[in-house]
Amino acid sequence: MEKVLVIYYSKDGHTEKFAEKIRGMLKADIHKIEVEDSLFNMPHEDFENWAQKQAQKQEWPKIKDKPLNLAPYDTIFVGSPVWWYSISMPIVSFLLKTDFQGKTVIPFGTVGGEQWIGKFFENFEEYAKNAKVVRGAVYEESPLIDKKITDWISGLE
Ligand SMILES: Cc1cc2nc3c(=O)[nH]c(=O)nc-3n(C[C@H](O)[C@H](O)[C@H](O)COP(=O)(O)O)c2cc1C
Repeated sequence: MEKVLVIYYSKDGHTEKFAEKIRGMLKADIHKIEVEDSLFNMPHEDFENWAQKQAQKQEWPKIKDKPLNLAPYDTIFVGSPVWWYSISMPIVSFLLKTDFQGKTVIPFGTVGGEQWIGKFFENFEEYAKNAKVVRGAVYEESPLIDKKITDWISGLE
């Protein structure tokens, strides 16, 4: 694989571990998406409900403006937790402001249960403008996750 970039958002660290694994195995560059400070500072229960309402209203959060040049990369892995059967809101914000012309996007992520992925992959096709979206991998948190991730990345090389 040629020069690869990994872009991800992770609220609780699971998707971050996945991103770091891709970075390490594919010698990729990495870029973390972050929301404006304190935007998501609320108890977990409140946050889940709030996030669902925001997503229903399509009110996507403001993400930090960090320098990012996609030009050197042909393949871009984009990682997100599954939120409400879809892509997490910070990654939706990122996708909506990005033009992926000429790039291949491989979505990856983590989820509470693999049967609840919902429209995660389909929504990447909807939001990742001009990208060629290739179906990636979403894994649930379990003792097997590390091996599943390693096997999946090995299969890509
Ligand atoms: C707002 C919110 C919505 C979620 N929705 C789902 C869901 O629809 N299905 C599911 O299986 N897990 C759901 N989860 C659990 C996360 O997908 C899971 O914990 C994931 O590994 C978190 O990734 P992170 O540690 O990178 O933030 C949700 C979590 C949050 C915070």
